[in-house]
Amino acid sequence: MDALVALHQRVSITKLTSPAPDKTQLNQLFKAALRAADHGNMRPWRFLVIEGGQLGKLGELFARVAQSNKPEITTAELERFKSMPLRAPMIIACIAKTAENPKVPLIEQIISAGAATQNLITTAFALGLGAVWRTGDMAYDPQVKSALGLTANEELIGYVYIGTPSVPVHLPREQNPEEFFSYWSEE
Ligand SMILES: Cc1cc2nc3c(=O)[nH]c(=O)nc-3n(C[C@H](O)[C@H](O)[C@H](O)COP(=O)(O)O)c2cc1C
Repeated sequence: MDALVALHQRVSITKLTSPAPDKTQLNQLFKAALRAADHGNMRPWRFLVIEGGQLGKLGELFARVAQSNKPEITTAELERFKSMPLRAPMIIACIAKTAENPKVPLIEQIISAGAATQNLITTAFALGLGAVWRTGDMAYDPQVKSALGLTANEELIGYVYIGTPSVPVHLPREQNPEEFFSYWSEE
């Protein structure tokens, strides 16, 4: 798909099924993520690919953590946490990996990791894959972060659910650029 078409038409696709991206597609996704704008070339990111049986293990982790945070949790709620990661054949956990830098404030590093994540989902769309960027409590919970191996200088900025669209993809509603872009003219 033409890059501009992908940029103009990307939508989140939440109904995802197998297959997951193949090796060639994954390589395209990874290369696109790594081309995000990055002040000081800090590469303030890393990514964890979760697929196959690991998705079930992630769901069990979510359920364990949810139960430890809320001991009175119902069985139905636990089942919901367990099944969350099974909504796609692959999840890419996107991590902002920050470091003290006199010229690059932390916020810029986190923005860069976000830009890499956006590159991932736009490239997925361009390749005819489906993807959706999700966070929620299970992205920010310290127990989950620790179990996934994140260190104190890392933030889990998103779980990108990725796979093959299982429903027809609808084009997004067009936005009016004039609502968001204006020309500054000094009085
Ligand atoms: C940082 C971030 C976190 C998000 N977390 C969630 C989430 O947990 N659940 C969700 O349904 N959408 C979440 N979204 C929004 C979707 O990814 C999506 O952008 C939104 O539903 C709009 O759809 P569109 O991308 O097709 O315009 C998040 C988006 C961002 C940028």
